[in-house]
Amino acid sequence: MKEKTFYIKTFGCQMNIRDSEIMAQTLCEHGYHPTSVLTRASLIVINTCSVRAKAEQKVFSLLGSLRKQKADNPSMQICVAGCVAQQEGQMIIERMPHVDLVVGTQHIYKLPGLLARVRHQRTAVNLSDSYEIPRYIPRLPTAGEQPQRNGDAAALSRFVTIMQGCNNFCTYCVVPYTRGREVSRKAVDIIDEVTELVNTGVVEITLLGQNVNSYGTTNPVSEEDTPYPFARLLHEVAKIPGLRRLRFTTSNPKDLPYELIRCFAEIDKLCPQLHLPVQSGSDVILRRMNRKYRIDDYLNMVDRLRAARPELALTTDIIVGFPGETDSDFQATMDLLERVRFHGSFSFKYSDRPGTAAASFDGKCEESVKSERLQLFQKRQDEISLERNREYIGSLQDVLLERADGELASGRSPTNHIVHLESWPSTAHSGDMLRVMITGAGQHSLKGRAVG
Ligand code: SAH
Ligand code: SF4
Ligand code: F3S
Repeated sequence: MKEKTFYIKTFGCQMNIRDSEIMAQTLCEHGYHPTSVLTRASLIVINTCSVRAKAEQKVFSLLGSLRKQKADNPSMQICVAGCVAQQEGQMIIERMPHVDLVVGTQHIYKLPGLLARVRHQRTAVNLSDSYEIPRYIPRLPTAGEQPQRNGDAAALSRFVTIMQGCNNFCTYCVVPYTRGREVSRKAVDIIDEVTELVNTGVVEITLLGQNVNSYGTTNPVSEEDTPYPFARLLHEVAKIPGLRRLRFTTSNPKDLPYELIRCFAEIDKLCPQLHLPVQSGSDVILRRMNRKYRIDDYLNMVDRLRAARPELALTTDIIVGFPGETDSDFQATMDLLERVRFHGSFSFKYSDRPGTAAASFDGKCEESVKSERLQLFQKRQDEISLERNREYIGSLQDVLLERADGELASGRSPTNHIVHLESWPSTAHSGDMLRVMITGAGQHSLKGRAVG
């Protein structure tokens, strides 16, 4: 029988990266082998993102370019998974005859079975009303079965999904439509999965969800009657022996309880780093975005977080040119940047998404206005990032080595900065924790030499 090989192309956020790993592993368990060459694959999975129009365009242009490949090799299967699949499933099946299967975000665990089924009928599977995240525990892959990974770093540091979906309905965002309602995973399943990963040599875990703060609030996550909030999950996961670093993403500032802030003071393994998307510095815009906090609340949280963990590196997301954003609203975003001095940020031009409330809002900004504001914001952020990073010069940081070969060595600091090493012990290899003296700083990385 012809060998079954697969190639997965992943777009979008960490949730999608983790979903791709899960799909890779389930495929391996069903006799498929990964290939890094797209043209050699008997199955191509495109794991898609639709958060902004540009992300979706990339997916459709890749799909277009696969038309010819399918014509040359009709037995090859093409599967579209992820957020575009969820939103545009039926349209893809109707208009793209070269696509065999469209799998919505909740069905990735069933991929091998669905693939067998579509040999007879092309199909799209969508969100369901009652969904529970399956108890998925990674298995140690046997030789030749390695799921696709991004080099050594991925073997040390892994993502673990703790919840799916989102109930927040920020007015610009497709995620509640592409991922469905919020569902939290059972705590015991998460702890077992992290334990299993740590047993395979993983030392750093990032817990994932669109809004991890509301973990455990929409469905029961343990057998007990008592609530099981996210802060408790952090404490429990941190107890797992062998785990060295714990991170999480993403948090909506609308519910960042004090007990969660305190975790930064109480849990040593919890890294001093937090991504806390603010989106805008203007209360008027925040209200129209349905973000449910005001800038004063946000600044308060920042103060409390920095009191709990003074070395905390704070990053954020910003949208410029939201419908109705005036020059003074945008100035409020620039003022916020000056006040908080984020270590870094991801900033985007507002993009209309079908089905969202903001798509029908008045006062859409001109493309040129959005571009200008984005440029201004990014220029100032780059300067601040550089200033912030220079503050590390002369400090000692524990760096988790991600690579160390003849020529190059680099790793991550507790604040998640990439640190390029100028010198390191010849015996060092990836996975080692090195004491590093920081000697230089750029906008996006640090430089240092191993000491002691
Ligand atoms: N759950 C995360 C966000 C996931 S989407 C959170 O709430 O923090 C990642 C980022 O994409 C968002 O924080 C936002 O800044 C950006 N984004 C989402 N929808 C967008 C849109 N329609 N246009 C531009 N940026 C958008
Ligand atoms: Fe989107 Fe808002 Fe949910 Fe984040 S919290 S995924 S921005 S709706
Ligand atoms: Fe994109 Fe879906 Fe993630 S829209 S950002 S892949 S949740």
